[in-house]
Amino acid sequence: MKITLKINGKMRVVEAGPGEILLDVLRREGYKGAKFGCGHGFCGACTVLLDGRPVNSCLLLVGVVEGREITTIEALGSVDKLHPIQEAYLDAGAVQCGYCTPGFILSTKALLDEKPEPTEEEIKQALDGNYCRCTGYVKIIDAVKLAAKKRKKR
Ligand code: FES
Ligand code: FES
Repeated sequence: MKITLKINGKMRVVEAGPGEILLDVLRREGYKGAKFGCGHGFCGACTVLLDGRPVNSCLLLVGVVEGREITTIEALGSVDKLHPIQEAYLDAGAVQCGYCTPGFILSTKALLDEKPEPTEEEIKQALDGNYCRCTGYVKIIDAVKLAAKKRKKR
């Protein structure tokens, strides 16, 4: 069936099966930043923003999100021009293998859009649904604090 999705501000008509999950459709359409991790809503590797809020795209049937605003990591920056949150993650040393990073960055964006100066506790709560196997989280929390500072300066 054909479904109209609003991805990163652009309307896209995509072909999808009735039981397909959003993650599979996004990746097939070239939005490869969202990753498959657990497939059960535990790891956050598949995080995208839906109407500005982080969601696990592995759990969402694509038909449910028709017409809603989907934001993937591809909307944030490019290799030539990184988004300030991406810069902050690099500057803080919060990226190792990078598999989890798009999900963390999107969760960070949602947090800072709502709370430009979050406390450490608020950062931990906001990133609670994102797992990282490499960094140990300390540098990720530093990255969010740095991103908040960069944002304030602008
Ligand atoms: S792949 Fe979606 S939460 Fe793990
Ligand atoms: S940087 Fe490797 S899982 Fe997070």
